[in-house]
Amino acid sequence: MSTQPATATSSTEGEPSALSLSIDEEAKHSVIGEVPAESVMETFHLNVFYGDFHAVHDVNLTFGKNEITALIGPSGCGKSTVLRCLNRMNDLVPGARVEGEINYHGQNIYGPKVDPIAVRQHIGMVFQKPNPFPKSIYDNIAYGPRVIGMKVDNMDDLVEEALRGAALWDEVKDKLKQSAYGLSGGQQQRLCIARTIATKPDVILMDEPCSALDPIATAKIEDLMLQMRKDFTIIIVTHNMQQAARVSDRTAFFTAKPDETTGNRTGLLVEFDRTKQLFSNPADKRTEDYISGRFG
Ligand SMILES: Nc1ncnc2c1ncn2[C@@H]1O[C@H](COP(=O)(O)OP(=O)(O)OP(=O)(O)O)[C@@H](O)[C@H]1O
Ligand SMILES: [Mg+2]
Repeated sequence: MSTQPATATSSTEGEPSALSLSIDEEAKHSVIGEVPAESVMETFHLNVFYGDFHAVHDVNLTFGKNEITALIGPSGCGKSTVLRCLNRMNDLVPGARVEGEINYHGQNIYGPKVDPIAVRQHIGMVFQKPNPFPKSIYDNIAYGPRVIGMKVDNMDDLVEEALRGAALWDEVKDKLKQSAYGLSGGQQQRLCIARTIATKPDVILMDEPCSALDPIATAKIEDLMLQMRKDFTIIIVTHNMQQAARVSDRTAFFTAKPDETTGNRTGLLVEFDRTKQLFSNPADKRTEDYISGRFG
């Protein structure tokens, strides 16, 4: 596994060259603080296009093993786009094109011989809106392992393990054969987390997993994420800065920069660091403005 940190130009280093850049160029540079010693995934010069539109510019990030990394920033800055690239979900978006490399345990997931379905098995995803299948609670969990032909000695045990892993077992153990639609929104989201962990991924991507939930259900998911961190690497997109501060080890702050000629807004990574550092002492003025509520 590669432990090479992502390389990116820091605006705090190399002052002479930074000064010689135009404002426009300088604004594109990211501040990279402390990167994880042991990484699971890295992006190298990740650029994403939707047709001619350059949605995300040159993102270099390192995701630490058994860490929670939060991606934050204003609407349209490319958080979901970056997240979807990490398990090749963007392959399913017509017109989407990815440049650069994304390494998972040192292997480029966009390499010619890589099967995107296998990638998604290792790198699972939980969506913004709970989206259980129109099936029983039990079958929601059993479906994934069956479809991928996972070798399972005892499906009942696997279902229980996944539901326990998502802190849902006690609430549903007596109604496993009932429809998942009978669960509350928060329970449905934990069911979706259980469904994701049933196929034993290594990394779990979450795109605003609490945005449709009330504060109590949100707190349960946050507690769950902190418990899950010992077994998984988690990457979460959130609009809730308190949530990023509460649960994440590291935070990446993105912004969107309008192109002077076309007016199109391209997403950029502004700053990546330990969450405590980024929130208490941000290195870039744009981060400071965002986290203090002056922008976005
Ligand atoms: N399927 C698509 N086709 C074309 N453009 C897209 C598509 N998906 C996203 N975009 C554009 O790419 C840019 C980044 O979008 P993205 O959804 O990644 O932003 P985001 O940071 O997740 O925003 P939000 O916080 O609102 O969810 C936006 O300008 C968006 O309009
Ligand atoms: Mg989004």
